Amino acid sequence: MQVKEIRVQDLNPQEFIQEKTKEISSLVGEGLAINALSGGVDSSAVTMLGHRALGERLKTYFIDNGLMRQDEPQEIVSLFKGFGVPVEIVEAQENFFAALKGITDPEEKREAITQTFYKDVFGQLVKKSGAKYLLQGTILTDVDETVAGIKRQHNVFAQLGIDPQAAFGYRIIEPLVELRKDSVRKVAEALGLPESVYNRMPFPGPALSARVIGEVTPEKIKLVRLATAITEEILGSSAAFQYMAILHQDRVTGMRDGKRDYGFQIEIRCWDSIDARQAQPTKLAYETLEKLAQRIVTQVPGVVSVTYNITSKPPSTMEAI
Ligand code: XMP
Repeated sequence: MQVKEIRVQDLNPQEFIQEKTKEISSLVGEGLAINALSGGVDSSAVTMLGHRALGERLKTYFIDNGLMRQDEPQEIVSLFKGFGVPVEIVEAQENFFAALKGITDPEEKREAITQTFYKDVFGQLVKKSGAKYLLQGTILTDVDETVAGIKRQHNVFAQLGIDPQAAFGYRIIEPLVELRKDSVRKVAEALGLPESVYNRMPFPGPALSARVIGEVTPEKIKLVRLATAITEEILGSSAAFQYMAILHQDRVTGMRDGKRDYGFQIEIRCWDSIDARQAQPTKLAYETLEKLAQRIVTQVPGVVSVTYNITSKPPSTMEAI
């Protein structure tokens, strides 16, 4: 199934919003729909579109998969409460860690996240709520990379020949699938979302599990979460498209207090990009890199090495798995 792109120069955000609101209303009819909000620009735009179209007949959940950044669930819920959109937190940490246990292959990890999210967690929610539709913020770049076999993005089905109704028992509506990130930001702004949302840095569906190389465990997520908080604090004022900390699987010999310390490695990536299809590493000041290394080796337990990725996409991708 080919998706036709609406390019940013051809997009009229208000007309787009009207059209999509109508489409969602007529598809869902008098029934219920549900959606998962992560706080990213894609799921935030979809939440607002769905809310306009369906009002209280849209049930919005924040799935706490245990893989989110520091304080993220509570911050997102209170932000949307301020927009008049109630969001319920679903505690699903155990489901995701159980599904990820023992898996080291990147695509198998992505598949485990997809199955847990759509079949297990959403399957239950749909059954409980009686909703027939799931609204989600898949965008064109997600589809492209999945179809090209580069990376199985967690939220792509129809283009892979998977029928969500048969696989999971509900239909999926994807109002943003003709757009890329730059256009989604325009739609989000036109929907009245604040700049902190429409210009929010992208964060992948598989969350911090995309930033742990090798097996994902609660302990490793804790380390990468801490390194992420430091990285986001230090690079927060940069104009980069996206920045992240990655925990490597291999350990290296380091030294601490005059003793050998066989410790962890953190890799920092910081990207300049327009739409995530191509990206270049940001030419960060050397002092900034030193500050990152210093803070991470002193504040993240067991880390003895911090590196900076200087490879463009392609051949790199932006996330590590
Ligand atoms: P990659 O790593 O493919 O990332 O170069 C391109 C952009 O997509 C984000 N990303 C994802 N977003 N589900 C998403 O919704 C996913 O499974 C996923 N994987 C990567 C990534 O953060 C970057 O902005």
